[in-house]
Amino acid sequence: MITVVQVLDKSFEEFITRDEIQTEVESLAEQINNDFIGKEVVFIAVLNGSFMFASDLMKSISIESEISFIKMSSYSGTSTTGTVNKLIGLNNDLTGKSVIIVEDIIDTGITIDEIMALLTMEGAKEVKVCSLLYKPTAFKGTYKPDYIGFSISNAFVVGYGLDYNEKGRNLDSIFKIKESKT
Ligand code: IMP
Ligand code: MG
Repeated sequence: MITVVQVLDKSFEEFITRDEIQTEVESLAEQINNDFIGKEVVFIAVLNGSFMFASDLMKSISIESEISFIKMSSYSGTSTTGTVNKLIGLNNDLTGKSVIIVEDIIDTGITIDEIMALLTMEGAKEVKVCSLLYKPTAFKGTYKPDYIGFSISNAFVVGYGLDYNEKGRNLDSIFKIKESKT
């Protein structure tokens, strides 16, 4: 029996279970522990979507590290500058540090490209991306994630931090939209 949930006007069916997520998150943490041992590491989790993933990932990180939470905020600049993106919440000095961006999902890759552009101005020694989910067929960005939990098809997903119109973030596994039979 596949568990089905309703979020607002859409039905979703269970896609990645809590156990599958847990196993994968522990494996990602182990790879990071091995790759970054002895480095000065700062995890930067992108809110809102990554809050649950970041929390579980950090429980299995054993290397000395810092974590900070950021948000991307877009605001309208002058007519000549158009929309300007800004990072809010970053108060760590990244000079010479190894930065690991923690994302919930990379879809087109546009968001991560913008975050990368803003973070490279902070003087980090290296910036890597760890994303729980990745949609390879939707991706048209520059920065393919270095650490990927699950590569998935283009279907819309919710749960484990991911939202559908801000709802469904609390679900403890990942659900995929049910194709409507019309
Ligand atoms: P990108 O800029 O296209 O890579 O999109 C990244 C953002 O879009 C993610 O951080 C999510 O907030 C949102 N997003 C993309 N795909 C999904 C999805 O399937 N479910 C929920 N949010 C998504
Ligand atoms: Mg996001």
